[in-house]
Amino acid sequence: MKLKHISAIICLFIIASACNKSTEEGNVASWQQVANGVWKQTVGNKDAVTLLDAAGAIPDLERLNQFEEADFPLDREQIHIEHQNNKLYLRFPLDEDEDIYGLGLHFKSVNRRGKLYHLQVDHYDGKDNGRTHAPVPFYVSSKGYGVLINTARYLDVYVGTGVRVDSPNKPVVYDRNTDPDWDPQPKSDIVEILIPDDKAEIIIFRGDTLLDVVRKYNLYSGGGCLPPKWGLGFTYRTHTLFSAEDVINEVNEFERQGFPLDFIGLEPGWMNRSYPCSYEWDEGRFPEPGKFVKTLLDKRVRTNLWINPYIAPKATLYEPMLPLSGSHTVWNGIVPDYSMEETRKVFTDFYTKHQLDIGVSGLKIDEVDGYDNWLWPNVASFPSGIDAEQMRQTYGLLLQDMITDLYHQKNVRTYGLVRASNAGASRFPFVIYNDYYKHEDFITALVNSGFSGLLWTPEVRSSPTGEEWLRRMQAVCFSPMAMINAWYSGTKPWSYPEVYEDVKNVALLRMQLLPYIYSTFADYHFNGTPPVRPMQLLDNFVQKDITVQGVLDDTKNPYKMATQEDIKDQYMFGDNILVAPIFAGQKSRKVILPAGKWYDFYTGDYVGENKIIHVDSKLEEIPLYVKDGGIIPMIQPRLHAPERDELQELEVRHYGEADGEFLLYDDDGETFDYEQGAFSWTRLKTKRDANGRLMGNEQRISGDLFNYKTVRWTFMGP
Ligand code: GAL
Repeated sequence: MKLKHISAIICLFIIASACNKSTEEGNVASWQQVANGVWKQTVGNKDAVTLLDAAGAIPDLERLNQFEEADFPLDREQIHIEHQNNKLYLRFPLDEDEDIYGLGLHFKSVNRRGKLYHLQVDHYDGKDNGRTHAPVPFYVSSKGYGVLINTARYLDVYVGTGVRVDSPNKPVVYDRNTDPDWDPQPKSDIVEILIPDDKAEIIIFRGDTLLDVVRKYNLYSGGGCLPPKWGLGFTYRTHTLFSAEDVINEVNEFERQGFPLDFIGLEPGWMNRSYPCSYEWDEGRFPEPGKFVKTLLDKRVRTNLWINPYIAPKATLYEPMLPLSGSHTVWNGIVPDYSMEETRKVFTDFYTKHQLDIGVSGLKIDEVDGYDNWLWPNVASFPSGIDAEQMRQTYGLLLQDMITDLYHQKNVRTYGLVRASNAGASRFPFVIYNDYYKHEDFITALVNSGFSGLLWTPEVRSSPTGEEWLRRMQAVCFSPMAMINAWYSGTKPWSYPEVYEDVKNVALLRMQLLPYIYSTFADYHFNGTPPVRPMQLLDNFVQKDITVQGVLDDTKNPYKMATQEDIKDQYMFGDNILVAPIFAGQKSRKVILPAGKWYDFYTGDYVGENKIIHVDSKLEEIPLYVKDGGIIPMIQPRLHAPERDELQELEVRHYGEADGEFLLYDDDGETFDYEQGAFSWTRLKTKRDANGRLMGNEQRISGDLFNYKTVRWTFMGP
């Protein structure tokens, strides 16, 4: 947005607020239905910048309206909106047995009930307190609705912690002296939110299922991203000071080792200066960037470049960016205000000329999240008028939006990395990562990403043992980006020879699964279905009222108890594969199998239904289970994702005994031509013949861009 436009909008807001003194307190009638099952309320006047504005999110109303009409999910009278000392106090009701999920990227827990959060973009510092890379102010309730607070302010969210004197459901009062049931944190019946502003937009989503709630949120953000096929292959980030020659040698070594590689990341050393940055190739290490990128492309390997946004005084971009930047520096570099069109143009013109036009496939946008003592302070100002706090909450979004749009204009898809994000980010082809490294917590972040329209990679950097290296590699291959980040360690996939065979096998399995993973992302793009799915999003997975297994009573049933725990170490990867990562040192692990029969991915053996199983860990396998009737389309192991028009043999696996159906998506894998209809959907379906034998069948349901030549069915059932 241009500066003069922003100023004009701010003036309009000021005039409008002066004329409109009314507050929305108690205004139960003012929820506006924007699509089936989606309602909005704008409290005060619309803010100059919101998260959804910064993300450029345009709700996909057409798809949202394909859902059935629905009733407002809450008692409107119980939603309280109050202006309190120039702040906004929001209150939403909670039932006694209601669980709350989401609120962005958290690393330790999944259920938010009974906890409080200060939602602020920040580098994660080991505590789930709301300061995180993507503190998305959107929560999902186990009662089938979601609440998004569209504001670019730092928010305080109390999820069932504050007990009001006027509560109709006050907790029992115990005497600590004598009563063992005394509770240090009595449960409250409300979610309370404090916004340091007098305005905000509140959006409420209702779904028949929890998954529908998340789908609607993602569609409201414009639908999920569809990465290029190569983005879903394997990626390796080289040591920071590698030269062109080092990188080419590395790529050749991947080829020799028979290890998949689709894109390679260059870290700060590709530039002639970093922290602050120039975005100019280092002439010593990369004397001929065009030739270098082309050499890699000829080897079917794309190039991704690390950047941070802070521009060095000696950089060519410094002069033109100076008037378009904020009042403070970060690492002595200026901070461009990317909410303004002029600023975006200065960057994108430069980037197009020096990087995009020579074939660079995308960026890793680093350091947009914080630490307070590195980033601009809250007193900083920016030329657009957006204040320091709003800029911090939206900076990662603004950069993702700029790069996403640039590649879109060129009709070339990109897939990259970013270290900060927020609400409205579903459509961005960017995956979040960070410097934290606890493996278990990385998996919990993966689980949580599925509630908030985020993609996360539990990147692999180095490990003290081969076992841990393998365990990390296995899990990252079942995430949105299969990546080793060796910027510091220089570690290679084969650095631990004792596990190399298994490391290679899991990377090749990832490549085999590309048709399944790509279709899973198409479901994200078109329908908003998150590719990585927390177990809690599965229908009836969290057992509240039903007794299963019939052995024990309702309170002691172990299955029911287990599903009510904070399940944070297993998840669904697409519709059909349940992933249960093993961590180094674990001899066995517990896996909670949802309703319906489940089968071992590797052998097709039946493993159980609706129960907890204990799996002995095998070094060579990450436990994977497929649901009854699950169909998994696969291709042959390969080193690079299929190029456009490259025909593949398809192996379609069917698991279990039930009939199955899977929608296989295909397109050119590289451009946005699918927006003009250049794609296909094919129904892969099984049924039994007269003798009761399973038969597979493929039926094109739309389009004709289909890059598979033969289809072979494998029945993995018992
Ligand atoms: C860090 C980033 C790392 C690596 C490093 C390079 O901020 O998280 O992944 O890129 O910078 O200096």
